[in-house]
Amino acid sequence: MCGIVGYTGKRCARDILIEGLKRLEYRGYDSSGIAVRGPGGITCTRSVGRIADLEKQIAGIDLAGSVGIAHTRWATHGAPTQANAHPHTDCSANVYLVHNGVIENCDKLKAQLEQEGHTFTSETDTEVIAHLVEKYLEGDDLAAAVQQALKRIIGTFGIAVMCRQCPDTIVVARNGSPIVIGVGDDEYYVASDVSALVEHTRQIIYLDDNEIAILKPDGFRSLTIDNVPTTKKVTEVDWDIEMIGLNNFDTFMAKEIHEQPETVRAAFRGRLYREQCEVRLGGLMDLGDTFLDARRIIISACGTAWHSALIGECMIEDIARVPVEVEYASEFRYRNPIIEPGTIVLVISQSGETADTLAALNEAKRRGVPVLAISNVVGSTIARESDAGVYIHAGPEIGVASTKAFTSQMVVLYLISLMLGRARGVGAAEGIKMIQALENIPDQISKVLEVESQVQHLAEKYYRKAENSLFLGRGYSFPIALEGALKLKEISYVHAEGYPAAEMKHGPIALITPDMPVVFIAVQDSIYDKILVNMKEVKARGGKVIAIATEGDALINNIADDVVYVPDAPEPLTPLLTVVPLQLLAYHVATMKGCDVDKPRNLAKSVTVE
Ligand code: G6P
Repeated sequence: MCGIVGYTGKRCARDILIEGLKRLEYRGYDSSGIAVRGPGGITCTRSVGRIADLEKQIAGIDLAGSVGIAHTRWATHGAPTQANAHPHTDCSANVYLVHNGVIENCDKLKAQLEQEGHTFTSETDTEVIAHLVEKYLEGDDLAAAVQQALKRIIGTFGIAVMCRQCPDTIVVARNGSPIVIGVGDDEYYVASDVSALVEHTRQIIYLDDNEIAILKPDGFRSLTIDNVPTTKKVTEVDWDIEMIGLNNFDTFMAKEIHEQPETVRAAFRGRLYREQCEVRLGGLMDLGDTFLDARRIIISACGTAWHSALIGECMIEDIARVPVEVEYASEFRYRNPIIEPGTIVLVISQSGETADTLAALNEAKRRGVPVLAISNVVGSTIARESDAGVYIHAGPEIGVASTKAFTSQMVVLYLISLMLGRARGVGAAEGIKMIQALENIPDQISKVLEVESQVQHLAEKYYRKAENSLFLGRGYSFPIALEGALKLKEISYVHAEGYPAAEMKHGPIALITPDMPVVFIAVQDSIYDKILVNMKEVKARGGKVIAIATEGDALINNIADDVVYVPDAPEPLTPLLTVVPLQLLAYHVATMKGCDVDKPRNLAKSVTVE
């Protein structure tokens, strides 16, 4: 949420910053801005809209210089206007600052600063920091002024600051919002995440909470906000530029949907031991028996990751017989949950930066239970703060609506279920069957992707006029109904609800008309017969039914108006197949309606505010 980029070195900062902003645009895209230090001082330009609008605006401006900061915004305080766009500055246009996060005591600080004579030009919380830095700045000690300013602040921040007195310096700091530093050749880069840096360097330094760093082309120094020097490790990331390009796809979402055979394989590669019929997840080994002996697991997450948690609940209870509860992270953090000894908390987050999920993690740690994390972004805050964890290795996910991370999260949950199951009575023969079934999934997903043209046709047939849609499923297919509805609403703006199919008769049935498509996930599982009954209830009321069904099921053809087939798989793995046509459906409805699928209205990829 909000993207920050910075550069200090010898190259043209403007180009590096604009390219970086484009890479980070998925974090927020309502307005943006850039400030570059040139021979004549700092030039700052801000624009409403996308990075392309900022580019147009700077086309005629001299932004020569090799030091600069830039920002792409997802509004929290104040509408997306030019005045509220970052960088923000102080009264004398001396200090320039970009910020990601939320300053909770901004109103109080603003009132105090106004009393002291400071004049504000925006509605943002960020501007308060710029004025605080101005207040504390003595000579050219920008770092000390930033430290003083941050001590006054309650809230979360990732910031990059520059000022006129310090020609080649950028000061960065973080608390709760990510800042990564890229190390080049006599140059340093700053970004909210590594995707903006990998085309320049893979040598990365992760800043920690309550740390600041002073970057100059010839050196780097880090301290705590309380002025204690810190030592940082340079980590080499294994992402490369290929992984963050479109590779002949029109959109990142299309690319990421089609990557799933490979990303799903990457999630289990090297983790299956056929001879021992076992799974080994290196990240969990250190926990040893604490993990294997867990008496109860609480899974906490947000958005699509919360849907994978629901699938995880079914898998772990079914396969390993360990009781599981799933909690929205935003609720868990403010409830007073009962967490007894023997409980393990598992958080799931693609980005590893979601503020509510991070808060749930911290709440669990505060209560003294082990916290495991399933995340995608290596070195992310959630990955680093958890006691143990498993990466899904899906590669960068850039489309705002999560697709490949979801399927990979389900694979890791399946591996966890098998690991726990083998320690609790799942026999070797059963273990090997489960492993084989998982190994078949990538090819089966490739097969499902072949239904794309049929799904495109269904999008046109049913969703040209439809303003509402219902998604129904039972058992393992219920979370997939939720996910199908979420995908459709978030990228095409068609109102969609996911429901357990049998609950339909307690309310949603009242909505059924011939104009509202009802999507059933109706594979041949243990409750297949029951879902056919629910389907008939919809048909009896004139509803239109699209069914996602198991290959070879001829019976369902007589009930549903249209059927999309997926290959047969053991019940716990069916979600990995049934979700794919629903991702494609959302995608094609959205493109048919001319929506920007990668950057849907009002959303952001990485939600670092609560
Ligand atoms: C945002 C994204 C969703 C994502 C959710 C949780 O809402 O748009 O696609 O599922 O955040 O994100 P996380 O990174 O924690 O999985």
